[in-house]
Amino acid sequence: MCVVGARPNYMKVAPLIRAIHRDPSAPRTMLVHTGQHYDVAMTEQLFADLELKSPDINLDVGSGTHAVQTAEIMQRFEPVIDRTPPSCVVVVGDVNSTLACGLVAVKKGIPLVHVEAGLRSFDRTMPEEINRLLTDQICDVLYTTERSAAENLRREGIEMTRVHFVGNVMIDSLKASLAHAVGSGVVFADNGIDPALLGEGGRFGLVTLHRPSNVDQPESLSEALAILGEVSGQLPLIWPLHPRTRKNIERFGLTKLLSRRRVILLPPQGYLESLGLIREATLVITDSGGIQEETTALGVPCLTMRENTERPVTVEEGTNVVVGRNRPLVRHCVGEILAGRGKHGGIPELWDGRASERIAAHLLAWLEQRVEPIFA
Ligand code: UD1
Repeated sequence: MCVVGARPNYMKVAPLIRAIHRDPSAPRTMLVHTGQHYDVAMTEQLFADLELKSPDINLDVGSGTHAVQTAEIMQRFEPVIDRTPPSCVVVVGDVNSTLACGLVAVKKGIPLVHVEAGLRSFDRTMPEEINRLLTDQICDVLYTTERSAAENLRREGIEMTRVHFVGNVMIDSLKASLAHAVGSGVVFADNGIDPALLGEGGRFGLVTLHRPSNVDQPESLSEALAILGEVSGQLPLIWPLHPRTRKNIERFGLTKLLSRRRVILLPPQGYLESLGLIREATLVITDSGGIQEETTALGVPCLTMRENTERPVTVEEGTNVVVGRNRPLVRHCVGEILAGRGKHGGIPELWDGRASERIAAHLLAWLEQRVEPIFA
């Protein structure tokens, strides 16, 4: 039983389900969507882009405080497990749905598998860090994307026999879809963007921001908007707005800070449009975890507007620079990139598009050798 809840989960589960289905003797898979994300732009379009099968079950939880959302997911997920006890539950990433469903599964004695385990920002003010720490503590099998993750898990007392370095399933999705990516020219035309607003040769920077640390307080959000306004003087910026960010800009009365002609807003984009925009951007400014990885995989300079990253390999080996909301640093990095001196990087180990294959092979063998199936 695979669980998804929010947008970044879909790219992780899609290649995994495909890899499992490639083995004719594999058990049936069930896909549960918690409904944490529910807007069409945040769900249905991405399912289609990723060729991810429709969820077998949608728990329709919607938005709420962390406590309400997590509790609601747990209450609605428990009867699903009771009705159809799976041989294991697979959760991915670090969203509230990951932890909520993990807790339910483990308390029912169902083996729990975490894909993208062991990443740590060491910043416990991030809701995702709490979700990561707690999920990893209760897992039977942990699949990691980079070598630093095993070290984090070891420090937290996780038995190393449970931990398997398999590579990055996000990159599996990226590789599977890149040939179908929608070019930025098409995205701009579809959204009525005047090409004259773009830089020389159609140059643009891509922005995505949705973390509470950037968008939930008026001070941090207006600071971020001011930085983007300044960067737009050097390079036009394309910004698909996350619903959380859009709501907060309106709630805090900050829309006037967005009046710059060269900060161009779009609605949330599909996966294929996002890949096209990332691939063709001169630089990306983001606080997303997945986009730090995608830019590294595509060799596009990335400025991460956070104080830390749980994905250090993107900084050590990739194109990522953690800049926070440090305006002089952002200015310096943008200048370097525009002068052709941006950070070059390599492709991290096992980010080869075959992580889900490795997970499927290991997981199916692991399930097979378990002595007593849990539902017997
Ligand atoms: C969640 C994840 C975050 C992930 C992000 C990707 C947690 C704690 N956070 O954050 O790790 O990077 O997804 O998008 O799980 N909203 C809509 N429509 C939707 C979904 C949300 O309008 O389909 C709005 C609602 O106002 C909601 C707000 O966005 O209150 C936040 O949604 P929520 O699911 O709580 O978290 P995200 O910010 O999306």
